[in-house]
Amino acid sequence: MSIACEGLTKVYEGGKAGWPALRGLSFEISPGEFAAVTGPSGCGKSTLLNIIGLLDEPSGGRYALHGRDVTTMSDLERSVVRRDQIGFVFQSFHLLNRMSALENVCLPMLYAGADRHAARGRAGELLKKVGLHGKEKKTPLELSGGERQRVAIARALSNSPKLILADEPTGNLDSISSREIMDSLFALNAEGITIVMVTHDKELASRAGRNIKMRDGRIEP
Ligand SMILES: Nc1ncnc2c1ncn2[C@@H]1O[C@H](COP(=O)(O)OP(=O)(O)OP(=O)(O)O)[C@@H](O)[C@H]1O
Ligand SMILES: [Mg+2]
Repeated sequence: MSIACEGLTKVYEGGKAGWPALRGLSFEISPGEFAAVTGPSGCGKSTLLNIIGLLDEPSGGRYALHGRDVTTMSDLERSVVRRDQIGFVFQSFHLLNRMSALENVCLPMLYAGADRHAARGRAGELLKKVGLHGKEKKTPLELSGGERQRVAIARALSNSPKLILADEPTGNLDSISSREIMDSLFALNAEGITIVMVTHDKELASRAGRNIKMRDGRIEP
């Protein structure tokens, strides 16, 4: 999935006047790339990822996803693209603690109208793929941080996304779990999924094929 941004800006309503979170970003990410986004706290990494993932809208500039100008899409079109083409992984997992791992992975498929039986079958396959065979019935609170994040990755994969956006996916994990999560992301990238990952970890970032360094709402040359 290609990403093309030109002169992207973001000013938050209620944010500090004259301090845009993004100050004119231009870059392209080609289908199949693994891009790591790094930079100091507050430089705009999450803001950028939210815009790329259609969770938020830019204040100015152009943004095309797979060649389509998303700034002209309706809210409905945006939500369909988000649901069918993009998988999200967050630092704090964002799992529902009252549901089992399997049910968490099923949810996006059920929202997309999948049959319950088919969704459960696919969720089981995806949990196996991320190494959680046998843990389907556990709730997030019964799993380790690394295991929770693998549930989140399985959930992100449920609708076969072409793009995975990960915002500090290893931020709450120890170094061994971090490496395992990175290995999972690399394996998915090897299958052709484009990945954009925000990280504070320079070593993990250096493993990505592409590094986008940000500072004060801009990309460093
Ligand atoms: N919802 C919001 N409303 C107003 N200002 C915001 C909002 N979200 C972020 N900001 C501001 O925008 C700037 C960029 O924030 P952002 O969350 O994108 O940074 P970040 O690089 O992800 O930081 P971190 O590494 O700490 O997660 C910051 O100055 C922040 O205070
Ligand atoms: Mg952030």
